[in-house]
Amino acid sequence: MFFKEKFVKKRYYIDKIADYVGQEVIIRGWLYNIRTSGKLMFPQLRDGTGIIQGVVSQKEVSERVWEDFKKLTQESSLIVTGTVAKHPKKEEYELHVKDIEVIQVAEAYPITPKDHGIEFLADHRHLWVRSQRQTAIIKVREEIIKACRDYMYDNGFTLFDSPIFTPNAAEGTTTLFSSDYFDLGKAYLAQTGQLYAEAGAMALGKVYDFGPTFRAEKSKTRRHLTEFWMIEPEMAFYDIYDDMDLIEDFIVYIVERVIKNRRKELDILERDITKLEAVKKPFPRITYDEAVEIINKKNVPLIRKKADGGEEEIRPFPWGEDFGAPHEEAVVEDYDRPVMVYNWPSEAKAFYMKRDPENPKVVRGVDVLAPEGYGEIVGGSEREDDLQLLESRIKEHNLPMDAFQWYLDLRRFGSVPHSGFGMGIERVVCWLCKLDHVRESIPFPRLMYRNRP
Ligand code: 4AD
Ligand code: MG
Repeated sequence: MFFKEKFVKKRYYIDKIADYVGQEVIIRGWLYNIRTSGKLMFPQLRDGTGIIQGVVSQKEVSERVWEDFKKLTQESSLIVTGTVAKHPKKEEYELHVKDIEVIQVAEAYPITPKDHGIEFLADHRHLWVRSQRQTAIIKVREEIIKACRDYMYDNGFTLFDSPIFTPNAAEGTTTLFSSDYFDLGKAYLAQTGQLYAEAGAMALGKVYDFGPTFRAEKSKTRRHLTEFWMIEPEMAFYDIYDDMDLIEDFIVYIVERVIKNRRKELDILERDITKLEAVKKPFPRITYDEAVEIINKKNVPLIRKKADGGEEEIRPFPWGEDFGAPHEEAVVEDYDRPVMVYNWPSEAKAFYMKRDPENPKVVRGVDVLAPEGYGEIVGGSEREDDLQLLESRIKEHNLPMDAFQWYLDLRRFGSVPHSGFGMGIERVVCWLCKLDHVRESIPFPRLMYRNRP
């Protein structure tokens, strides 16, 4: 039969169609859109690798083929045979249709070419992912992830997976999702794999983990997911300066890969490539103190919630506070590439960061702020490698000492200076694709107010 016969034949894909100019090919896919003009029809066919315009001429096809095309609805599935032709001037291809097999005529498709509200699209995320813009973002995301893994593999890092069920907090106790764990009480979804990666670095020298991580803070910002993917390299015998060198090299590599391999997708997203081409070494490195100076020069206040529910603006920006989006924006505004802010006040950062031996009020932590106002994409630090100092930090942070005994063992048995960082994939996708909101950066986003479809 027609159907079976088509399936055993060679596979052709739209992104490789340039190889078949003048030849007959078979496209298996869906109808993206269709336009009729008298005795001609122009169906746009998509197969997941791209979109090609078909030309159906009533004169040249059988009546059955013409009638089949007439009954097609948006997203109907089909197998189309035709000859590939190249546009005389442009790098564009057309399919001169000879035959069609309709697999299914789709029901009225909810997402039409008109504008839909964002909540409607989010409710239909399972269908929204078929749109040209969304597939372009997903392809850039894949390139970023592949580039991360290639960089690690090519530079002597070993993959060291960390668990998702964990017994305690690592990045602050108020932000944990918990679940019942048999007779062992509660287990928490990991906020980070870092502590486990540190064990890996002591075993293998340079490691990374890469997986989903979870944050339960009640945040509704454009940059916050409750579930996001993070890559976390961890290196023995690296100090904070080695760490920053690595972060810089890593980010430049990823941006170059995306520009090189995902040009078509960036064009679909109307991304200004020159902004990405500016991402070269060296990145500016400024201390937290210098960043606060910039913030105060621009007179950006800290906004603090008052007891009565109102807000107050505090100027100058008080030393010791973490930055919010307006502060990050003020700091990066004058630069065309990511900015590394290091030497943070210890009270603003996690318990495991190493105190600067010359100034115990600050820790050897670094945040990398993306240009164009995209905010923090990387957080990293040198780790506290002294047993006593780490114990006192665990106490100060009211963390359960028992649960951390295994982590303290890493400081008992051959402790060495070591450093690492975490990069959130979705933040990088937002930046490189220039997305307004993190909800488009992952196929099925999990937000405070959305956990479906
Ligand atoms: O700065 P964070 O919290 O650092 C850590 O978790 C460290 N343990 C990393 C390490 O040193 N191994 O998170 C690191 C990065 C952020 O810079 C950001 O890119 C991303 O993870 N991130 C989020 N992305 C989306 N939604 C959220 N809620 C995020 N929280 C952090
Ligand atoms: Mg951070």
